[in-house]
Amino acid sequence: MRIGILTISDRAYEGVYEDESGPALIELVEQHFQQPHDLYHICPDDFIEIKRAIEKWCDDAHMDLILTTGGTGFAPRDVTPEATRAAIEREAPGLVHAMIHASLQKTPHAMLSRMVAGIRGRTLIVNLPGSPKAARENFLTILPALPHALELIRGGGASEHELEHPIDAEERERQERNVMD
Ligand code: MTE
Repeated sequence: MRIGILTISDRAYEGVYEDESGPALIELVEQHFQQPHDLYHICPDDFIEIKRAIEKWCDDAHMDLILTTGGTGFAPRDVTPEATRAAIEREAPGLVHAMIHASLQKTPHAMLSRMVAGIRGRTLIVNLPGSPKAARENFLTILPALPHALELIRGGGASEHELEHPIDAEERERQERNVMD
């Protein structure tokens, strides 16, 4: 399994602040997939750069999963969804519905994320919001469906689709609380 984490933020790219969302996702990926991530990069909020990074990671680096964090909101520079939509071939709206639905139980501001998820070749790309808390919460929402999703994209389908360490509701709450501390 090859997993890439792409942080999308002008300020993190310029070094104005340290990226926390990328490392938060790396930690979760390593914990739940029991393997290191393969690629991590910080990209500015630029349509061309985001699209190019996603395409390169799909076509040349052959990632199975790309998680982006940031740039999904309403600010003028938030173009992650547009760049992602330009790079994917098929949308995966169910993942987005699930994330928005779960996030609305936590904050009405969940309405303000324009996240996109979709498939390019054999890669699943999922946008997550930019704060470490939001990135973590949304990742944990789709996590139970990811092994089966990735297997289907690779052309499989019939085997078990369990995570190495399935998480129960209590553990999930604990992980989400961590970010808020
Ligand atoms: N989703 C969850 N689960 N938790 C959150 O705290 N924050 C929201 C939303 N989604 C949030 C969330 C906020 S405040 C915004 S502005 C949007 O995500 C978009 O965030 P982004 O522009 O950093 O991608």
